[in-house]
Amino acid sequence: MSYHRSVRDVTMDYPKEIILKDGTGVTLRPLKPGDENALFEMFKLFSEDELWFLNHDVSDPRLFEDWVKGLDLNRVVSIVALLEGRIIANAALMVKDYGAKSHIGKVRIAVDPSFREKRLGTWMLLDLVNVAMAIGLKTVVMRLVQEKDAYVISAVRKLDFIEEAVLEDYVLDREGNPCNLVIMTKHLPTEWDQF
Ligand SMILES: CC(C)(COP(=O)(O)OP(=O)(O)OC[C@H]1O[C@@H](n2cnc3c(N)ncnc32)[C@H](O)[C@@H]1OP(=O)(O)O)[C@@H](O)C(=O)NCCC(=O)NCCS
Repeated sequence: MSYHRSVRDVTMDYPKEIILKDGTGVTLRPLKPGDENALFEMFKLFSEDELWFLNHDVSDPRLFEDWVKGLDLNRVVSIVALLEGRIIANAALMVKDYGAKSHIGKVRIAVDPSFREKRLGTWMLLDLVNVAMAIGLKTVVMRLVQEKDAYVISAVRKLDFIEEAVLEDYVLDREGNPCNLVIMTKHLPTEWDQF
């Protein structure tokens, strides 16, 4: 018999402490009201090219008000990484509460450019994979752009994500050039005997 926790319940496991490659201690906790401005400030540091490929126009501060207020706590685990009161990363696991895709979680991660290549993205991804297992998901999906995210694709391969599909010329870069969208999935063990 398996026992799975709810999305709301797993957020009670925070705060969590992680140590970056350079020894810096960082706190992970769920996104909460009051984080809007700090998130806006973090995304201001992203390059134009990175912003283009995000799902939302983060140059509009009102987006973050909607984002934080409208967060569906039954379907989304959104966590932030904090260092000295500043948000230095945000990662989210999104699930459906009904139907044929309710065993799948989508993951998105964004790290402040000055804190990259310190394993913060990897820690947050592993944390959300752990959450996905706790709530009983079978698959975690990341959608990456082949031309832009080559290093992310090889990094998540090392975490047992596989290249499930490549949608050729599916998205356009800022100049209008077509790029391939890569669907990376990780199939999760749902019972202990599947390890
Ligand atoms: C993708 C992203 C989250 C990675 O965050 P990060 O904290 O730098 O990731 P990590 O430090 O854990 O690095 C993971 C791996 O990628 C490598 N890597 C990270 N940035 C790299 C770069 N610019 N060039 C080459 N390799 C890089 C790291 O060396 C590491 O490799 P390893 O596992 O062999 O050590 C971050 O670059 C980002 O926020 N990008 C913009 C948003 C985005 O594209 N998100 C991905 C789609 S959801």
